[in-house]
Amino acid sequence: MGMTGDEIVALAKDDGGARETGSLPFDTSVAHQARMYDYVLGGKDNYAADRAAVEAGLKAWPDMAFSMRANRAFLGRAIRYLTAEAGIRQFLDIGTGIPTSGNTHEVAQAIAPESRVVYVDYDPVVLAHARALLDSHEAGATEYLDADLRDTDAILARAAQVLDFTQPVAVTLLAILHVIPDSDDPYSIVAKVMDAVPSGSYLAVSHSGSDLFDQGTKDSFSGVVNRMVQQQYTPRNHEQVTRFFAGMDLVEPGLVPVEKWRPAPDAANQDAKGNSALYGAVARKH
Ligand SMILES: C[S@@+](CC[C@H](N)C(=O)[O-])C[C@H]1O[C@@H](n2cnc3c(N)ncnc32)[C@H](O)[C@@H]1O
Repeated sequence: MGMTGDEIVALAKDDGGARETGSLPFDTSVAHQARMYDYVLGGKDNYAADRAAVEAGLKAWPDMAFSMRANRAFLGRAIRYLTAEAGIRQFLDIGTGIPTSGNTHEVAQAIAPESRVVYVDYDPVVLAHARALLDSHEAGATEYLDADLRDTDAILARAAQVLDFTQPVAVTLLAILHVIPDSDDPYSIVAKVMDAVPSGSYLAVSHSGSDLFDQGTKDSFSGVVNRMVQQQYTPRNHEQVTRFFAGMDLVEPGLVPVEKWRPAPDAANQDAKGNSALYGAVARKH
């Protein structure tokens, strides 16, 4: 990381589509959110276009890598809270990402082996690695659904084969809703999912915060994403992200930058250093 503009262009032209695609059934010549995240988290499942977009993104917004790592750490703390403190044993993790350390079922089943997790993502690279998500503890269960969040009814129907929707479920939508544009009505999608789960269920969200950037950084980072990345980018402000939790009770400390959500007490905690531009919160349905 930390390349010059010329190096970024050269990397993007490194015929990522033609050479690396080979027989893959998808286009690797356009950066994808899942593979960019994988690159920043130190994974190997990314292509030249993804790496070039990350480098360009870092030039526009140097805290991008910190934000992504802080988001992943938030996932761990949120799942630990839900399992250990809220007593949740069922999870619907939509926008799973390429498997890495600390996947939802690993965190939950380390505390409660009987936990059941349904993963959902629409990226073919995530699908290709889904096996890593299916190594459930024998006391629990995991399932992977290759589906688009916007096909909400289909996801709920298939998830109901693994999860008992008469018992509380934690729905996690982490770093996914900011790639659902307003034209796809993300508020209705979230409401539909939360309508399907009973009282005592939880919703965890992390989301790019438009008011956590200065205007110049936001504009230049949005420009990079909209030029180089398959997904559209819609950061939302505090009020707009809060609306995803309408009718629910936010768990303390409410909607805050992800690194400030119940940070681990140890001083060595990397999440405590830096400023992400991602909001995170967990709320309980009553
Ligand atoms: C940045 S990753 C976050 C992974 C994980 N939730 C985390 O926070 O560590 C976002 C994931 O959402 C997936 N995604 C984006 N839009 C989606 C959609 N409409 N349906 C399903 N998955 C989607 C991407 O493929 C990607 O794997």
